[in-house]
Amino acid sequence: MYPLSSKQCNEILVVGAGLMGAGIAQVFAQANIRVVLVDRTENDLSRGKNQIEKWLLSLSKKGDIEALRIQDIRERITFTTNLEEAKDVSLVIEAIPEKLELKKEMFKQLDKVINPNAILATNTSSLSVAAIGSVTNRPEKVIGMHFFSPVPIMKLLELVVSINTDNETIQFAREIGERIGKNTIIAKDFPGFTVNRVLVPMLNEAAFLVMEGNDPEEIDQGMLLGANHPVGPLRLSDYVGIDVLLFTLESLYEGFNDSKFRPCPLLKRMVEAGHLGKKTGKGFYSY
Ligand SMILES: NC(=O)c1ccc[n+]([C@@H]2O[C@H](COP(=O)([O-])OP(=O)(O)OC[C@H]3O[C@@H](n4cnc5c(N)ncnc54)[C@H](O)[C@@H]3O)[C@@H](O)[C@H]2O)c1
Repeated sequence: MYPLSSKQCNEILVVGAGLMGAGIAQVFAQANIRVVLVDRTENDLSRGKNQIEKWLLSLSKKGDIEALRIQDIRERITFTTNLEEAKDVSLVIEAIPEKLELKKEMFKQLDKVINPNAILATNTSSLSVAAIGSVTNRPEKVIGMHFFSPVPIMKLLELVVSINTDNETIQFAREIGERIGKNTIIAKDFPGFTVNRVLVPMLNEAAFLVMEGNDPEEIDQGMLLGANHPVGPLRLSDYVGIDVLLFTLESLYEGFNDSKFRPCPLLKRMVEAGHLGKKTGKGFYSY
């Protein structure tokens, strides 16, 4: 029956056991919802499993989860390379790499295999949800569920609504978001959605300030004390990854054909030089 009630949703499928997929699987399992987690190979699956173990360990060390519950959470996640094991779920969340062709192929396959009443969500951070949904026979049941990294920690879930997404699908996503303890916001399906649309141009502007000769620490200090930000824009750019930041700016620039999103040339040089931020030990700061 459609619309489905999110309360009856007791099993979901997550496709892609990378950084995001593993986190998404974990937060659903923590909320007593069974998860089938699919990836291409056993190796990919064990990487995902190890990631979940690390997060669970750190939550239990902090006292956020009791040891007894950890075993239950583990048991709620089934790791498999076979999509068909999840054909009866009511919600799928796709978290495979950020390539439109790859995601379209996956959605075509999901549309064939998964129960036709199920909602198909994508965790894309920059692609068009309408384009991904257009390859299915249920574009009204396709929505963006944009989680933030690290998923077990970050409170926000941005629900990205395409021109085809219907109200039942939005409602379902909102309710299930609340069930897993996230705060949801609705964003329209345009490049950057809401959070990156506002955040990324600010990080870009801070990079321009550095290119003009300002000191990163002075800029960060200014935003900490003058705008009450919890972390400065250049420190945050290093955490996000300069390559990821540049990619997001380029998708905003191309998506809107608007020069206000033109990436700062310094970001391009930093990527060419391998200064990708914290992950390479050097960005605006050294690590
Ligand atoms: N990393 C972030 O901070 C972040 C934040 C928000 C959204 N996202 C989005 O989430 C998605 C995943 O990002 P990630 O950082 O987890 O990437 P990742 O590279 O860590 O993980 C992707 C996983 O998908 C698997 N995969 C690839 N093709 C597959 C297929 N055909 N079937 C099943 N599994 C397949 C890979 O083996 C890998 O395990 C992307 O769309 C990304 O833009 C990422």
